[in-house]
Amino acid sequence: MTTRKLLLLPGDGIGPEAMAEVEAIVAILNAETGAGFETERALVGGAAFDAHGAPISDADMALAMAADAVLFGAVGGPKWDTVPYEKRPEAGLLRLRKDMALFANLRPAICYPALAEASSLKRKLVDGLDILILRELTGGVYFGEPKEIVDLGNGQKRGVDTQVYETYEIERIARAAFEAARTRRGKVTSMEKRNVMKTGVLWNEVVTRVGREEYPDVTLEHMLADAGGMQLVRAPKQFDVIVTDNLFGDMLSDIAAMLTGSLGMLPSASLGAVDAATGRRKALYEPVHGSAPDIAGQGIANPIAMIASFAMMLRYSFAMQREADALEAAIASVLENGIRTGDIMAPGARQVGTREMGAAVAAAFRERLAA
Ligand code: IPM
Ligand code: MG
Repeated sequence: MTTRKLLLLPGDGIGPEAMAEVEAIVAILNAETGAGFETERALVGGAAFDAHGAPISDADMALAMAADAVLFGAVGGPKWDTVPYEKRPEAGLLRLRKDMALFANLRPAICYPALAEASSLKRKLVDGLDILILRELTGGVYFGEPKEIVDLGNGQKRGVDTQVYETYEIERIARAAFEAARTRRGKVTSMEKRNVMKTGVLWNEVVTRVGREEYPDVTLEHMLADAGGMQLVRAPKQFDVIVTDNLFGDMLSDIAAMLTGSLGMLPSASLGAVDAATGRRKALYEPVHGSAPDIAGQGIANPIAMIASFAMMLRYSFAMQREADALEAAIASVLENGIRTGDIMAPGARQVGTREMGAAVAAAFRERLAA
């Protein structure tokens, strides 16, 4: 029997509550299909800092490297606002991304028809929205050196971050974007700031060349990242795949997420390169929402983004398309039936907590698997 080793890193805030709902779904999959998922839990973020004095321990990092896939919750909260910068909860996530070489971050922004009213934009602008943001995840200003605050000795300090990209880093994220576009509507929009940044000039040049030489069948368009942000809220349906750097991708994906009605809805996948020998790739899946410390522990968080992240895992790490389709359809049907957590509540709908939402999706999923 196949075994699939899954590492669960629930983290802080609402991470553990949302993760518990995925564990229930994993149990259903194992029971109904013999999928053979073996799960192990480890600590990340503030929870890891409290236990080990580091935002992820070396032992847990080794588990992540060895797993077939990692499911990550969320990190951070006011409790850890004063821990040293190198040990802050977010550093655990950044180490996972860097050490696992997860350069391609896929952030779909899909507007479930049942939720179009929850968007801050008019229904006609977002109904049926389906965008995929490809964010470069292991380079740019997040990791560039020097990264420091220098005491200038005259009562002044200088803070420095370094935005740096090399050709191969842009090539591989560009290819990931073009490949994704081929399975969708065949259009890539590349966003940078070539009008003020050298990395933007190089980004534009490399993406253009990769498109021309390797993907002439895909339509490529370029936008300055600020104009891209504006277009995202003006007419989001013009986009299919957006490819952009680490920092712009962080911001633009939050904007895109909000278009869909709730940050609580969106999953993401962070993928490494395919290993030529094994055909496998390292991968980490996480909801786009954060740890939401203000509602943690109350049982009211929306677990859908976490469940949808698991659906992405089924698709990208295990090629379980049928099961992924069934899980995504289960989520949509629960929303169609007017079941809502507080963040996506609408007039006439029934408001439920985390457990009840998870159970509703799980029941709909089981039904679909059996069908
Ligand atoms: C994200 C988050 C992270 C990022 C934080 C938690 C470090 O905002 O995944 O978008 O900035 O990448
Ligand atoms: Mg972010």
